[in-house]
Amino acid sequence: MLTGKKLAVLGVGKLGEALVMGLLKQGDVRREDIAGSVAHEESLGRIRERLGIEAMTDNRRLVDGRDIILLAVKPQNMDRVLTEIAEVVTPQQLVITVAASVTTQFVEARLRAPVPVVRAMPNTPCVLGAGMTALCGGLYAQDEHLRTAEEIFRAVGETVFIDESLMDGVTGLSASGPAYLYVIIESLAEAGVKLGIPRDIATLLAAQTMLGAARMVLESKAHPALLKDVVTTPAGCTIDGLLELEEGKLRVTLIKAVVKAAERARELVETQNAHPRTSQPQVRH
Ligand SMILES: NC(=O)c1ccc[n+]([C@@H]2O[C@H](COP(=O)([O-])OP(=O)(O)OC[C@H]3O[C@@H](n4cnc5c(N)ncnc54)[C@H](OP(=O)(O)O)[C@@H]3O)[C@@H](O)[C@H]2O)c1
Repeated sequence: MLTGKKLAVLGVGKLGEALVMGLLKQGDVRREDIAGSVAHEESLGRIRERLGIEAMTDNRRLVDGRDIILLAVKPQNMDRVLTEIAEVVTPQQLVITVAASVTTQFVEARLRAPVPVVRAMPNTPCVLGAGMTALCGGLYAQDEHLRTAEEIFRAVGETVFIDESLMDGVTGLSASGPAYLYVIIESLAEAGVKLGIPRDIATLLAAQTMLGAARMVLESKAHPALLKDVVTTPAGCTIDGLLELEEGKLRVTLIKAVVKAAERARELVETQNAHPRTSQPQVRH
């Protein structure tokens, strides 16, 4: 479905670049079929050099004649960018938004025509083809649009469809999630350093252990608690480590971190819905 499709990426920043790199690596979209925009002239060189795609600062020119328009600017820039392209976007195009907290309703309200909109919440491991993306469709999105969006994000990782009301939860869990897990890897590596293990080896031990544990959960489909029990020998060392984690409230801390991030996203949605045509989503990452 993606073959020959022309893709415009508005806002080739960290996430936009990760997506384009992932798509190019998988070979699902040809380099000459992707073009991107940025805010500053000085960012153009970065995109041309790192991605080898056509780059510009003119969003209206960028979206003209493209099949898929991927909006990857910051949430606070969405209103301005949508207003800019509203007149040139047609219902024959598919708009995909990845902006945290920006609803399909927010996007639809700013476009002039009944344009199909899909909201996606990916994460940065897309760059390695190991991303996780949740998807939902707006008012005018048909099955074919959802399948096209699914294909884009399947090229760079796993996908799930969810109800839009759960998107803020996804933002707090899997979009922000890599940051929490980097802190855990960093902390485990620090522990290794404390115990005399060279930092590079300690980081490898921690990161590969996290990758292995994640694969065990995904591939065995067993409950994480059962997998934990397998590691925890009675009167062994792991149970002592787990006791420390319980005392340090790791579980509740992680739960609260995700809930807090999701709440922040939800607050922003409420602000937008209160003033759908005039409000600027305010984002505090
Ligand atoms: N980062 C993540 O892990 C992640 C995960 C899920 C979703 N998201 C969402 O992805 C979006 C981008 O996040 P990010 O982390 O990639 O931010 P970022 O690195 O700041 O990238 C934003 C990009 O948008 C460009 N831009 C700003 N105004 C523009 C305009 N008017 N026209 C065209 N381009 C414009 C910027 O250009 P310059 O480079 O010239 O300044 C920059 O390249 C956000 O909405 C975020 O919620 C991010």
